[in-house]
Amino acid sequence: MPSLFQRLFARTPMARSTRAYEFALSQITLPPEPWVLDIGTGQGYGAAFLSRALPDAHVVSMDVRVGCIRWEELKTGPRPPMVVQASAPYMPFAHQCMDLVLAVMTFHCLPEPQRVLEEAARVLRPGGTLVLADVDGHHPIARPFEWVEHLFISPLTHAYTAEELEAMLRKAGFTHITFRKRPGREKGFLMWTIARLPSPA
Ligand SMILES: C[S@@+](CC[C@H](N)C(=O)[O-])C[C@H]1O[C@@H](n2cnc3c(N)ncnc32)[C@H](O)[C@@H]1O
Repeated sequence: MPSLFQRLFARTPMARSTRAYEFALSQITLPPEPWVLDIGTGQGYGAAFLSRALPDAHVVSMDVRVGCIRWEELKTGPRPPMVVQASAPYMPFAHQCMDLVLAVMTFHCLPEPQRVLEEAARVLRPGGTLVLADVDGHHPIARPFEWVEHLFISPLTHAYTAEELEAMLRKAGFTHITFRKRPGREKGFLMWTIARLPSPA
């Protein structure tokens, strides 16, 4: 059951990070009819956006708590997202079934982060892409963000630096790793990590 603070926070514009999903899609290419997994789907605004922006995609919305999803308010595409309740380190999906795995404003609070990346590598097809959009651990807001999260949301929160993420991603088997900021917002706190698995030989 989400706490009162989590339910109140979920109603704020900050929680509606559709633009972070939009920028993620602008940075990658996908095959036709891709399978897309949104880890930590929250209220579902991002997943609904994915189903509109990628009308031929199969979008899977995964969250450890699905009580915050507000499907009745969301405008979805022709194939509404499928909802799965599960914890990110233990994804209930077959090997090599996804083309894209996303975690927007979510990776910072996940338990067993190395295992989450290994699970993402397991469920992605060869050449598949993982995108993490999250608070840049080098940004001045990173430590205050962690303090507030520790007080009100999760004791697990950690704003990862690019160096920390790169080491963990390489260990999980990702090879092509890049870090992006939105053009014109290079000093912004959001950082997109784009990591790909090696393509089939
Ligand atoms: C800040 S919200 C991000 C929501 C959405 N991605 C967005 O950007 O609007 C973080 C989400 O991660 C979810 N979460 C936390 N721990 C999780 C876990 N172990 N497995 C899956 N989701 C988890 C929370 O329930 C919450 O919905």
